[in-house]
Amino acid sequence: MTSAAHVEFTLDGQALRVPAGTTLAAALAMRRPGVARISVSGEARAPLCGMGICQECRLLVDGRRRLVCQTLCRDGMAVDTETRAGQNR
Ligand code: FES
Repeated sequence: MTSAAHVEFTLDGQALRVPAGTTLAAALAMRRPGVARISVSGEARAPLCGMGICQECRLLVDGRRRLVCQTLCRDGMAVDTETRAGQNR
């Protein structure tokens, strides 16, 4: 159940509930492993700088590529890490 203090969304189809104002990077870190994507060479990538510089935290939010460190969790958003190699580049 959603309240003003929390938001609910899905991460790779799994429902998550986090405090309002939580970044997607923080929500991703709550999950083990906290991988955002897999590089073209097959390496797991995760948020690194936390300030929009490194681009390591790219993933799909409602079908559009976003930086999770710069994106707040919203009610109803669908987040997809596309963790297959070469996806979500
Ligand atoms: S963690 Fe570096 S751009 Fe998001």
